[in-house]
Amino acid sequence: MPLIQLISALAGDNELAVVVTDGLLLASGPHILYVNAAFERLTGYASQELIGASPRILQGPATSLAARKRLSKALRAGQRHSTTLVNYRKSGEPYRCAIDMFPLLTPEGELFAAVALEREAPRRRGRRPAQGGED
Ligand SMILES: Cc1cc2nc3c(=O)[nH]c(=O)nc-3n(C[C@H](O)[C@H](O)[C@H](O)COP(=O)(O)O)c2cc1C
Repeated sequence: MPLIQLISALAGDNELAVVVTDGLLLASGPHILYVNAAFERLTGYASQELIGASPRILQGPATSLAARKRLSKALRAGQRHSTTLVNYRKSGEPYRCAIDMFPLLTPEGELFAAVALEREAPRRRGRRPAQGGED
């Protein structure tokens, strides 16, 4: 897929974590199409474990429902959205994840994919990571 080749060329060695999903906003979607090596390092998952899964695999009890809803709304509206929420590595360790999400639209305005640039955000002072981190 040309989009993935392009993003892989740009993001493959980038130290920012990069994830690309399809635009299927069904119950199980969106589905991950691509992650770079930095995303594997951030999450502890190998790309084979993530491709085809939903980024929701990273969520858990301390992930803010409100932040998820705002992200979902922006995706449906085709709007860029930045947020910080609690995610969980494969090991179960929580971390605060800063997400900058860009929906990719067709000329007709339909969502066909989305890209997110992600990095671990510093802990909030005086908070444990599982409690802090909601925007
Ligand atoms: C490109 C992309 C990357 C995403 N990355 C994450 C992520 O790293 N962590 C996370 O908790 N949610 C992430 N999401 C959001 C979830 O996939 C989902 O859209 C969000 O939980 C809202 O939908 P829901 O209310 O159905 O859960 C990402 C979404 C997209 C489109």
